[in-house]
Amino acid sequence: MSIVFQETYKTITLSTANTLYQMQIDHLGHLQHLYYGRRADEADMSYQYFQADRAFSPYPHQGFNKRCPSPDIVPQEYTGFNTGDYRVGCLELSGGTGMNAADFTYVRHEILPGKYQVEGMPSAYDEGGQAQTLVVYLADQVTGLQLELYYGVFEKEDIITRAARLVNGTGQPVRLEKAASVCLDIPFGDWDLIHFHGRHAMERQAERLPLPQTVTTVQSKRGVSSHHHNPFVILCDREATEEQGDCYGLMLVYSGNHRTDVEVNQMGSTRVVMGIGDELFSWNLEPGGAFAAPEVILAFSGQGLGHLSRLYHHMIRHNVCRGEYKTARRPILINNWEATYFDFTADKVYDIARMAAELGVEMLVLDDGWFGQRYDDNRALGDWYVNEKKLPGGLAPLIERINGLGMKFGIWIEPEMVSEDSDLYRAHPDWALSVPGRLPALCRNQLILDLSRPEVVDYLYERISGLLRDNHIEYIKWDMNRNMTDVYSHALPAEKQGEVSHRYVLGLYRLLDRLTTEFPHVLFEGCSGGGGRFDAGILAYSPQIWCSDDTDAIERLVIQHGTSFGYPVSAMGAHVSASPNHQTGRNTPLGTRAVVAMSGTFGYELDINKLSDEEKEEIRGQVQFFKENYRLIQDGDYYRLSDPSRNEWYTAWEFAAADGSEALLNVVLTHSRANSPNIHLRLKGLDPDARYRIAGEDYYGAHLPWDLMFGGSPSIREERTYSGSSLMYAGFTLPMLFGDYPSGQIHFVRV
Ligand code: DGJ
Repeated sequence: MSIVFQETYKTITLSTANTLYQMQIDHLGHLQHLYYGRRADEADMSYQYFQADRAFSPYPHQGFNKRCPSPDIVPQEYTGFNTGDYRVGCLELSGGTGMNAADFTYVRHEILPGKYQVEGMPSAYDEGGQAQTLVVYLADQVTGLQLELYYGVFEKEDIITRAARLVNGTGQPVRLEKAASVCLDIPFGDWDLIHFHGRHAMERQAERLPLPQTVTTVQSKRGVSSHHHNPFVILCDREATEEQGDCYGLMLVYSGNHRTDVEVNQMGSTRVVMGIGDELFSWNLEPGGAFAAPEVILAFSGQGLGHLSRLYHHMIRHNVCRGEYKTARRPILINNWEATYFDFTADKVYDIARMAAELGVEMLVLDDGWFGQRYDDNRALGDWYVNEKKLPGGLAPLIERINGLGMKFGIWIEPEMVSEDSDLYRAHPDWALSVPGRLPALCRNQLILDLSRPEVVDYLYERISGLLRDNHIEYIKWDMNRNMTDVYSHALPAEKQGEVSHRYVLGLYRLLDRLTTEFPHVLFEGCSGGGGRFDAGILAYSPQIWCSDDTDAIERLVIQHGTSFGYPVSAMGAHVSASPNHQTGRNTPLGTRAVVAMSGTFGYELDINKLSDEEKEEIRGQVQFFKENYRLIQDGDYYRLSDPSRNEWYTAWEFAAADGSEALLNVVLTHSRANSPNIHLRLKGLDPDARYRIAGEDYYGAHLPWDLMFGGSPSIREERTYSGSSLMYAGFTLPMLFGDYPSGQIHFVRV
């Protein structure tokens, strides 16, 4: 049993393979948090806490004699409001007399088989029927406002999920000004915060900060999870490394505004509150109405950051992503965007596809520019009918030709947007978000459709499902190229305008849900100007997301490194593009570009016809290598072997099969140096008692000729075997790489 209620102590204990989570109903009925961390054998962990009067920390009226316990001090599962906890809270309320306070006490709980779902929003699921759910029902005894706390326990996966739901049992309207998903109090310890910030074309850069004794906030107010701050944070102990130390992860399963506050309080205890962003947010709860806050996926690792990431990788891949492509091999694609931008004809696209097909590429993706008057990015969004000047006869003849090459056909759309210069906008100007009396702010010269309106969602469903029904399309790249401003729906009254951004996200999920259910064979790839909406919510509908508009292999090392803390490589859209790179102007070897893109979903985005015969042959080899090693790369355990924020010299990472049967070591030299020390790496995830041979050792770009180095050559290295223990404990040395951005891939196989 992974959920146990102990009547004697009034504790509820959740256990997973390596963790324990415990809460207790205290003598006043409050639900106190007792512990989350490494698995411990104890039915009542309340012995850790002494309650005493803390001046200026108020206590409930019943605490007159002892002047405690104070909600300002006690670790809690979810906070009340306006009753004495001055730390960051979960809730803010307004409404009629007496409605601006809440103090929740325990009513009952249920332990249920299976995993709860969150209404209207994606959440982790359990296919094997192993997960369990705990629901704790609480209520404010004065107003009747009800709180339901949900816990999903994935024992084998070592994951606990949480969600919250508020039900208005007050008989009066109540307005939520804030309704977070979780509060996680960690009463003891000194913690660092790792968060993932960025900007367009440089997403999810990991930053590690010692927590100051105040509130640190990570948030997006952009209407989407954003390039700028990912809804995922890690708290780790000050000494934690990739392999050691205690780490907590909190990942919000949500694609809109989000907010995470991490507070170290007067007593040195740490609180994390995570949920929907509260700026421009409010929700009107009519009597009897309910509000569901999105889910948070919690993970704890007592074995450092690498293990924490691998818990998330597994969870996202198997319990968040859905549909047949969550594990099936995804086609290697070629996208025409950086090859042609808007300037293409059917023949040009076909020529790119034909050459790619010859080299083993499996799908052509037609990007932006195939519809309406879309000759540049100033117009036509919303007009989802084919531009027959570019594609005479429509999509069907082109798709037929592409399919004739043995390739699948995929297409780009940006359904949530509208250009002012479009037939759709001319017909329905009120379908765009805009504040009455104001000209809305522009971004890429486009506006956002109001997906909080059901008729807009229905319209988009009809257009996209029609496109998919009428054409043999096997992949959709779903883009979104601006952030929200002028958040106002022309369909809602003034008092409901605070609901628009959340209703938008619910509308988006409804649309994606209908489409992915009706077209289960279509592979969806999320995108928002690259990785501007890279979150677990979108991953529930599209198992991959275009990681960044920055296709420069060296920049991608940092982006993919940061992304890897929470998300698996199977989620990261990554392509080999042209050199010099279009975003940075940097030249990199073709092989290095492939090594980096292979640590993602792998594809190409350049005009292959412009390459030399030698380069084309190199691509043929890359495609074959990726197909052969697909399972190792996508299903294998991912290990970060370097940290770009500390090591500007090289970046290294590894994939190891879970059974220790093989491993692929990847290294890119990011800074060439004279008389450079050797790059020496210790492998991970091998079987220490087994022996390994090198099945392949390939370097791209320059290295010192083997005959000028003592101690090895590919033939000598391939003739011998190595023990797993020596590769892991002593390590493996690379030849001296030099020149601009060389890289290496070494494949170890158990003998
Ligand atoms: C932004 C995407 O990230 C790019 O890959 C490309 O699809 C463009 N939009 C097209 O407008």
